Amino acid sequence: MIKKIKILPIMLSSLFIAAGSVNAADLDKAVEIRQSYMQMIAFNMGVVGNMAKGKTDYDAQIALDAAQNLALLSKMNYQSMWPEGSSNSDLGNTRSKMEIWTDAAGFAEKHTDFVRRTDNLVSLANKGLGNLRSAVKEMGGSCGGCHQGFRTKK
Ligand code: HEC
Repeated sequence: MIKKIKILPIMLSSLFIAAGSVNAADLDKAVEIRQSYMQMIAFNMGVVGNMAKGKTDYDAQIALDAAQNLALLSKMNYQSMWPEGSSNSDLGNTRSKMEIWTDAAGFAEKHTDFVRRTDNLVSLANKGLGNLRSAVKEMGGSCGGCHQGFRTKK
């Protein structure tokens, strides 16, 4: 019961974000958080990527751990990290394109694809280097697929 009472304000604040009543500091915070989120994704992708490239030795358990982290990260609800009014045409500190909001269905589709491919990575990560390599290659397509349409070039 006590837990439920604690959770309520969090739910309310995410509703406010969805409704668009976010102040400038909150928008900057959301940008910071989603970039950190991407850094966590990139960190775990680096672990399996380096094994796939032969830069580090293949280790089934370490590969599986990184894959499971990616799967967890992929399943986070991302809505509150991309509040309306936080595109690169609104703010200077972000590479998130306006298309994230104008083509929300397209962005959601890329996200679903990312979830699907991380699940594939989880099922193959500890099944030998050859399998890891093909799953990592698929993952790369997912990162690039979303960045191409929804992230500005540097
Ligand atoms: C559903 C879309 C989507 C997917 C999938 C995705 N990204 Fe991103 N990524 C973005 C967007 C949008 C940004 C720009 C964030 C910003 O600056 O607001 C970004 C930014 C980044 C950044 C820069 C973060 C920073 O510090 O500014 C890195 C690194 C990154 N992504 C890595 C990855 C990797 C690796 C994968 C795949 C394993 C991946 N991303 C998958 C949308 C995606």
